[in-house]
Amino acid sequence: MTATIIDGKAFAAKVRGQVAEQVARLKADHGLIPGLAVVLVGADPASEVYVRSKGKMTVEVGMNSFEHKLAADTSEADLLALIDKLNNDPQVNGILVQLPLPDHLNEDLVINSIAPQKDVDGFHISNVGLLGTGQKSMVPCTPLGCLMMLRAHHGSLSGLDAVVIGRSNIVGKPMAQLLLGDSCTVTVAHSRTRDLPAVVRRADIVVAAVGRAQMVPGDWIKPGATVIDVGINRIEKDGGGTRLVGDVDYDSCAAVAGAITPVPGGVGPMTIACLLANTLTATCRDNN
Ligand code: GUN
Repeated sequence: MTATIIDGKAFAAKVRGQVAEQVARLKADHGLIPGLAVVLVGADPASEVYVRSKGKMTVEVGMNSFEHKLAADTSEADLLALIDKLNNDPQVNGILVQLPLPDHLNEDLVINSIAPQKDVDGFHISNVGLLGTGQKSMVPCTPLGCLMMLRAHHGSLSGLDAVVIGRSNIVGKPMAQLLLGDSCTVTVAHSRTRDLPAVVRRADIVVAAVGRAQMVPGDWIKPGATVIDVGINRIEKDGGGTRLVGDVDYDSCAAVAGAITPVPGGVGPMTIACLLANTLTATCRDNN
């Protein structure tokens, strides 16, 4: 079997187009322009690339982008003061603090200082609780993008066996909640899971979110399964230079799977599209 390639890049462009249409309508009908504030502490090169890309796409859909780049040694008090200012700024509908933060900053404290209704990452403890209890919440962007692609490919996910590899707060845990919400039978596998290949082989849906390059080989995949690859890992290329690969070994998995997301061009673009969609949602909820 040769897998259907789930084109996240095209899907994300469609989502951004829909967001742009609604942003234009908000502006025309209500004079509102959604605003997204992104806070970056320090100069991690990968984070700088993400933040630049988020800012560019925010402006492209007609929203205001507010970037706050702070020095790596910024104190917790100063960061909390900035978040408080953004929480109270009516021009700012969404706030994202890029993770990871430098070690001297308490990530939980910082995230939980964001007003929950402006928490477009869905990381605030109250949004986590709302999602876990099936209530309306801000949903983390990467798992939301994965769910949208899965729904588009499968239609109903009800009754399917889903294995999420990775238990991070950013992807693995919220992904499991979303799949459970769509009535999948969900297993969350992680570094201590016994006989991971056997666990993955049961799955109709595999979501790989471990951050280890090409960790999942094709012979772990049940024929016809759908493989969603959240990993973005840079590896050395044969003959010099580097290239991006996911958490699954693409060629061997694509030979067995029914459908697969590529890296790049799969989950990555959907994450940013969902961030913009969440910012629009936050704006609409802010203004009823
Ligand atoms: N770092 C890696 N992924 C994310 C994300 O989705 N949101 C934030 N804020 N930081 C990240």
